[in-house]
Amino acid sequence: MKVLVIGSGGREHALCWKLKQSKKVTEVFAAPGSDAMVDDGITTVNIAESDHSGLIHFAKENGVGLTVVGPEAPLVAGVVDAFQAEGLKVFGPTKAAATLEGSKQFAKEIMKKYNIPTAAYEVFTELEAAKAYVEKQGAPIVVKADGLAAGKGVIVAETVDEALTALDDIIGARAFGDAGSSVVIEDCLRGEELSLMAFVHGETVISMVPAQDHKRAFDGDEGPNTGGMGAYSPVPHISSDLVAEAEETILRLMAKAMVAEGVPFTGILYAGLMMTEEGPKVIEFNARFGDPETQVVLPRLETDLVQVLESVMAGEELDLSWTEQACAGVVLASEGYPGSYPKGVAMSVPTVDESTGLKWFHAGTKKDQEGHLVTNGGRVILLSTLGDDLGTALGSTYEVLDASEWPGLFYRSDIGHRAVKLSGGEK
Ligand code: AMP
Ligand code: GLY
Repeated sequence: MKVLVIGSGGREHALCWKLKQSKKVTEVFAAPGSDAMVDDGITTVNIAESDHSGLIHFAKENGVGLTVVGPEAPLVAGVVDAFQAEGLKVFGPTKAAATLEGSKQFAKEIMKKYNIPTAAYEVFTELEAAKAYVEKQGAPIVVKADGLAAGKGVIVAETVDEALTALDDIIGARAFGDAGSSVVIEDCLRGEELSLMAFVHGETVISMVPAQDHKRAFDGDEGPNTGGMGAYSPVPHISSDLVAEAEETILRLMAKAMVAEGVPFTGILYAGLMMTEEGPKVIEFNARFGDPETQVVLPRLETDLVQVLESVMAGEELDLSWTEQACAGVVLASEGYPGSYPKGVAMSVPTVDESTGLKWFHAGTKKDQEGHLVTNGGRVILLSTLGDDLGTALGSTYEVLDASEWPGLFYRSDIGHRAVKLSGGEK
């Protein structure tokens, strides 16, 4: 079978790399893909992820048997509906189902209706009413732009002033454009965060192993929220009982709720969770693979990925096989990210021995006219490493990163450290 992956980031690089390993796959296309994917034997196709008719034309002309959608933007724009209307097989939610990610208000309303645990909240469109609510509730409090804002539209305000400023930015100055035409204000949850993803088709749910992402830009969880600066899996300091509870009370329940609401979900259901003293609660739902979680979860998957996708779409809950090894991934980002940053900065990436479980996943790089690698985004590249335990995996990652100079780039030096400490490792 020929497969097509829509997208170009680190998550899509990992997806293409894993699909390429499938015994059922003869060719992997990526649209638009990245130069780095070509080095892994992936065929890139110069069609933008927003060009639905171009993508459909390509899939038909080239006998693509299955299309997998990486990022949220084409999902929310209805790429799955467009493929389905042409009778093409595609793995991802319809536009209506992707609203689970595209509108935080929609997601919160379903959670409330079906008793899926999440923070208490109110929704506002008027600045003054929103401000009055913040004054009444006090801090800490969380302010979220309703729509898509590349992981940056959430402000966890420690003071009332901070929350008021966030409201001025989002509703007043429209810092996130129409994504901020309504705002969700919710209680601040405390606890460990966990990312739990599942392959879903209607009520069929095949859960993946959990991962933890590091959202803040700098060491010690300081600085602004980002799309994610590093991740690891498994998450040894969170018990498997709690993970199993979250699978039942959150993922499975949400899949059922979407069916009951008449918007059955097909694709990757991603629950961003806070493990609170009262149990797991939802911070957000995404309608696609997490980035960078995918870069540390897929390397652990031993079952053929195409077989997984075919099973879930046939309504079978396949038992997945995962390596016992841990996987760690650290992001190198452009200085300035998540604010503005330059592009086209020359970089050199040391060769790693992929046979020992090390792998570079490129998020924002390209080759210039001479074929030299340059930066081309905020999150630039991630080194993913398998190891016998988390401490070992992290040790191998940082050994490579710390041995090189990275002009114009930065990375967190504490990915996974707390997990190793809390779970009794040596770090
Ligand atoms: P989101 O884009 O919704 O995942 O939010 C980004 C980050 O903000 C999350 O990963 C959390 O660290 C934090 N966050 C979001 N909502 C809450 C909440 N209700 N309580 C505490 N932290 C939150
Ligand atoms: N890493 C968080 C996300 O993919 O939304």
